[in-house]
Amino acid sequence: MGEATESSVKRENQDAKDEDTVKYYTREEVQNHNMSNDTWLIIHDKVYDITRFMEEHPGGEEVLLEQAGADATESFEDVGHSTDAREMLQQYYIGELHMDDRNKVSKKEVYITTSKDSRSWSSWLIPGLAAVLVGFMYRYYMLEHRSS
Ligand code: HEM
Repeated sequence: MGEATESSVKRENQDAKDEDTVKYYTREEVQNHNMSNDTWLIIHDKVYDITRFMEEHPGGEEVLLEQAGADATESFEDVGHSTDAREMLQQYYIGELHMDDRNKVSKKEVYITTSKDSRSWSSWLIPGLAAVLVGFMYRYYMLEHRSS
């Protein structure tokens, strides 16, 4: 019984130690690593040092360089990477994105969504008005045609 207690205590200490060693990076810090011989990426609020991986990437070195030092979540998801690719990511994990910098992204996303909404609204208005105008012109033409 005493033994079991001892091992569970040990496990608890180990967990606490792991939490202490998590590193937090700001966007600014990650941005400094945007070179081909020193490449970091942010994907889903996690920071990866992919310097060793650049040449191995099946999608090529160039696409990774384009995203170097920045948030590649969107492009990573757009490609529809396999589960294998997601597991590979773990090897390059170096830490988490700083909490203060996570909020900035969600604010930016909200802004993008709103601007998209207003764009779709205005893209409806012009063809709509054009259709009404064509309708009136047709009616006018038919009336004139009949009277002559
Ligand atoms: C460190 C992060 C990344 C890892 C571990 C990774 C891994 C992989 C792997 C294993 C493949 C082969 C297909 C698959 O299994 O899904 C792949 C393909 C591909 N990746 Fe990535 N990738 C990463 C980041 C990115 C990023 C940020 C982009 C885009 C900017 C990207 C673009 C592509 C493209 C376009 C392909 C398709 C290649 C083809 O179909 O010929 N990858 N990646």
